This record gives sequence, C-alpha cells and structure tokens, in this order.
Amino acid sequence: MKIIQISDLHIKKSPNSFHYGIDPRNGFELTLKSILNSKIDFNSFFLTGDISDDGSIESYDYVLNLLEKFNKKIYFINGNHDSKNNLISAFSKSKYFVPLNELILDNWLFIGLDSCLEGKDFGFLSDSQIQKFENIINKYKEKKFNIGAVVHHHPIFVGTPLIDDCPILNASKWIDYIKTNNQIKLIITGHVHNHYSIEIGENTKLETGFSSFALFKKGGSNENEDIIKSYGYKIYEFLNDSYKTSEVLLIE
Ligand SMILES: [Fe+2]
Repeated sequence: MKIIQISDLHIKKSPNSFHYGIDPRNGFELTLKSILNSKIDFNSFFLTGDISDDGSIESYDYVLNLLEKFNKKIYFINGNHDSKNNLISAFSKSKYFVPLNELILDNWLFIGLDSCLEGKDFGFLSDSQIQKFENIINKYKEKKFNIGAVVHHHPIFVGTPLIDDCPILNASKWIDYIKTNNQIKLIITGHVHNHYSIEIGENTKLETGFSSFALFKKGGSNENEDIIKSYGYKIYEFLNDSYKTSEVLLIE
C-alpha cells in the first residue's frame, strides 16, 4: 500500500503571488504533473499542512479542484499558515478530502494531530492532543497495528537552523511515550521543506516531506541563500511490519 505525501504548498489567494520569490501554484502544478507522469499506483494522499499561505478559501478551492481529479482520498492536517476553519469548510465540499484523525489502512493505524497554535509559527501539542493520541492507541491495543503519527511540525531538531527555531516546543514527553511503544513506527511531518529520515529511539523514525515549491537546504540558516526553487513529493510504501520511502525532488 502506497501513500504520497504532499506538503507545504503555501498557496495564496491571488494566482500571481509569490513566496520567497517563487510561484507556489506553479510548483504545486508541476508536482501533480510529475505524479501523473510517473503512473505510480498509490492508495491515497497525505497532505501535511501549510496547504495555504494565507488561509484563504480561494487557496483551498484551488487545491481541491486540482487534487480531486486523481479520484483518490486526500487525508489532510493543518499547518501553522492554515486557517483550520476555512480549510475544513472548503474541503468538506468534496467526498475525497478527509481530515486525518484516525485512519486504518491494512494493518496500519495513522493518527493525525494538530500541532498549531493560532498566530504562532512554532508547534505545540496540547494535553488534549496527546490524550487523543494515547486514547486511539489504547482503543486498538488488541489489534497490534503498526502505528504512524501525522503532524505538521517536527518534534525533534533536524539540524537546519532555518526551521529548527520553530519545532513542536513541548514534544519531549510525547517523544518519551513514543519510545516506550514499539508499535509506533514513524512520525510523518511537513513544515521542514525537505526530506529527512531520523531515528527516534529504537523503533521509530521521523519522516519529513518536501514542500511542493521551495526547498530549505539541509543545514541552512539564511532565508535568502538557503531556499531553493523546487518541487517534489515523498512516497511511502507500507508493508506488513515495516515501511519504505522514496523521494522525488525536481529542481528547476
Ligand atoms: Fe509550517
């Protein structure tokens, strides 16, 4: 079973607006074209936040119209740039778009969490989000699923100052819990605009995806020099008891 992660689209209300001097709509359209041309057989999309840059209904409608054409389910979470209300109200018009809360696919359980605080760029996990995570895991305890968390912000540093100043600020308790549960195989995030695969404890990895229009250079700290025009996506193949990823990144 394959899932494609698309992330950090940063679409704005008006079609000709730029972000970091780059046209986000162009990058997103090239990303979708690349997926179509690859003829990859996949189950669904994970859309991991910062779908819009300004939270406008217009930006969500634009994304909805393009992604609906794939006839696949799109499981989404919100990022720090999204308006959760507009996101949910725009996407609820489509049968393909589903907010990711708990999702069972084959022998995998995916749990979506909201790491955003209104008006803040950094991430934060409220007690209720952590409780939700643990409750869902306890609910399916007998099933012995492999578990994946899906959340916008990264809970551990990735080694890139450009983005490491706004991770989930209070993730340490959550990470400690994750380390004690060997069913939790991965944490999927957006936000960092690059692919990382970093071990957390013995059984879990942080997996982050590309942005569909701008890459933050690994190790970069400069908003002018370390952002590269690019587009791409990450493919997850979920197997019986493990997973593999492959990454597609295209730099113009
Ligand atoms: Fe973000």
